Amino acid sequence: SAVAAVIPAAGRGVRLGPGAPKALRALGGTPMLIHAVRAMAASRAVSLVVVVAPPDGAAEVRSLLDAHALPERTDFLVVPGGASRQESVRLGLAALPPGHDIVLVHDAARPLVPVDTVDAVIEAVRDGAPAVVPALPLADTVKQVEPAPAPGDPEPVVATPDRSRLRAVQTPQGFDRATLVRAHETVTGDVTDDASMVEQLGQPVVAVPGHEEAFKVTRPLDLVLAEAVLARRRL
Ligand code: CTP
Ligand code: MG
Repeated sequence: SAVAAVIPAAGRGVRLGPGAPKALRALGGTPMLIHAVRAMAASRAVSLVVVVAPPDGAAEVRSLLDAHALPERTDFLVVPGGASRQESVRLGLAALPPGHDIVLVHDAARPLVPVDTVDAVIEAVRDGAPAVVPALPLADTVKQVEPAPAPGDPEPVVATPDRSRLRAVQTPQGFDRATLVRAHETVTGDVTDDASMVEQLGQPVVAVPGHEEAFKVTRPLDLVLAEAVLARRRL
């Protein structure tokens, strides 16, 4: 069945610091969003990419797509996004034409995900999982804390979950389309990824191996790493 990718790219990028919306910032001279679009279109299974642009930036994103070389076999749509990632993904899903039964949701802020990771996610959905996440083991030990009495005060540690059972989750996350649409229609409240909405429906979610290069560009140091990864690829 046909695969569509929805790319939420409507965020400001507050943690990256002042400047253009994060997805439009340059990486190796090319907007981060274009890298992310190419990463999805690199999979031969993906026949449609829906880019969810900053709310006032849909025309700019459309001209960026027109100005960069992209695979001919892939169609591209641009829609304006919303105030939260969740809302942006919902707007992207609403723009999907019929005929794509598998949907990937991929952060524009993960420009360097390798195509093998994209294909592994698609394959797991094709094998019957309604929701699939690429995931990696954690390097750091994770502590659960109580909120500090005042900002900057020490935070009491209350628990240390078993690290061997924890995973850091990336994108693209892959879904049976009907399941993802139902999750976005049903689940309210704040979430930080799409798979957690499917979990709330009581549907199974499985993890497949993620990739170090699928890291999210969030803070200034991530941009330094992304430039280095790109330079290494171009050797
Ligand atoms: N996103 C979106 N619409 C929003 C907020 C986020 O489409 N209203 C997208 C971002 O563009 C990004 C992805 O969701 O590709 C992951 O979000 P994140 O890394 O948090 O990006 P920002 O929200 O832009 O960054 P920050 O939280 O630092 O402001
Ligand atoms: Mg954010």
